[in-house]
Amino acid sequence: LIVILDFGSQYSELIARRIRETEVYSEVLSYRTSAADLERLNPKGIILSGGPNSVYDENAPQCDPDIWQLGIPILGVCYGMQLMVQQLGGSVERAELAEYGKAALHIDDPTDLLTNVEQGSTMWMSHGDSVTHLPDGFEILAHTDNTPNAAIANHEQQIYGVQFHPEVVHSVGGQALVRNFVYHICDCEPTWTTAAFVEESIREIRARVGDKRVLLALSGGVDSSTLAFLLHRAIGDNLTCMFIDQGFMRKYEPERLVKLFRDQFHIPVEYVNARDRFLEKLVGVTDPEEKRRHIGHEFIRVFEEESRRLGPFDYLAQGTLYPDVIESADSNVDPKTGERVAVKIKSHHNVGGLPEDLQFKLIEPLRKLFKDEVRNLGRSIGLPEEIVRRHPFPGPGLAIRILGEVTAERLKILRDADYIVRQEINRHGIYHDFWQAFAVLLPIRSVGVMGDQRTYAYPIVLRFVSSEDGMTADWSRVDYDFIELISNRIVNEVAGVNRVVYDVTSKPPGTIEWE
Ligand code: XMP
Repeated sequence: LIVILDFGSQYSELIARRIRETEVYSEVLSYRTSAADLERLNPKGIILSGGPNSVYDENAPQCDPDIWQLGIPILGVCYGMQLMVQQLGGSVERAELAEYGKAALHIDDPTDLLTNVEQGSTMWMSHGDSVTHLPDGFEILAHTDNTPNAAIANHEQQIYGVQFHPEVVHSVGGQALVRNFVYHICDCEPTWTTAAFVEESIREIRARVGDKRVLLALSGGVDSSTLAFLLHRAIGDNLTCMFIDQGFMRKYEPERLVKLFRDQFHIPVEYVNARDRFLEKLVGVTDPEEKRRHIGHEFIRVFEEESRRLGPFDYLAQGTLYPDVIESADSNVDPKTGERVAVKIKSHHNVGGLPEDLQFKLIEPLRKLFKDEVRNLGRSIGLPEEIVRRHPFPGPGLAIRILGEVTAERLKILRDADYIVRQEINRHGIYHDFWQAFAVLLPIRSVGVMGDQRTYAYPIVLRFVSSEDGMTADWSRVDYDFIELISNRIVNEVAGVNRVVYDVTSKPPGTIEWE
């Protein structure tokens, strides 16, 4: 185990992922974790993350100063390094030149931490303060043109600091540095592998659940699919997979999902056809928030009824992932300001909170995993790529891509248009060029002409975006001929549509979805 103490850097999770990529397990903990607690956890190494503060800020977050005496190797990154220097008696000052972006690393001492990092490697810098005076016992490992102390070490005590961010992709020798820390300095073993995770999870699930019954709501995404597989391997028929079809999935998706589970994984799925119920609830509803609310409520109602019918169950399985766990840990709240230290905005969730009076205990076997680890796991158990790397799809599905009232007729229009978009994107091999690429149906009509006939029909909007995390997004500059191809097909093949337009708004100010 490598522990990352989080000082509020947007990169703390990324450090954890980089370490896990070396097949060593890592966890992100609050910077306030005490030395005694750390000693109990017995990690092989500790990393102090970067952070938005200056060490001289009044409320600058501090770590327990006893950690320097634990005898555990420590690496400070950016703010983490400055804090280390300050606590150990060196000094940090506002730099004459703040350094942001790429810098060439000139290596002065290529032993341990910087072994295999090439002379002149590009590293990503982002700091306004600089270390001006090293604590006793420290020496310089590397410098850049603007920063004399870019990497420092106290070899004897195995305490290291880097001013740059080895974890970001722009830092060319970054992963080599991480490996050096993990393997040469901390002496870790590569035990964090997919196979080991599956084995350990199955053991844990069996120990926890015994012969009790577990309910899982399948959504068709990689998380719930992987979860189903793990649970089924662990407890077999004591798992019930329920798939509620609200009627807002994409063309052929529900059928494919059920078939995949039955035929390939031999996991039976309780298919609940609730299409009519959901449509009924949306009669006359045009306000986006009201639409979401109705869908959310109806979902809970169906879920309750069906779980009663199929139950009783002792456990509810949820696809909670590691980032949700880190984000909801209130240990990351600054005691003075009451604000969360990690600057991160919560992502959407598929099933907005189930009511508390549902008497389930939760089981969350994926809670240690990052999304890319779930994908690898999904792949290793044979989930098809179309599920493993599926674009994000909102819980309320196509219903929030039909502006205005959702009716059976308009669902069919959007579903057919969406199908054409996906077909062409797949056929051209560009599915993964986009964060999302989909169609939206507008509630207005415009005039057109087809053959000699005047038409008066709906427009379809094409929404293709690129994004890193869905929080910001840019509209995709796709080839005009490609748009034309899709436009022609939609207008010719989808009755009720006579016009196709392309959305050229980024987020912000637009959102990705239209509702
Ligand atoms: P917006 O439209 O807010 O969307 O820019 C950001 C990302 O979140 C997805 N999204 C949802 N995902 N349930 C979900 O699971 C929802 O209710 C929901 N609404 C939006 C959206 O597809 C995009 O990836």
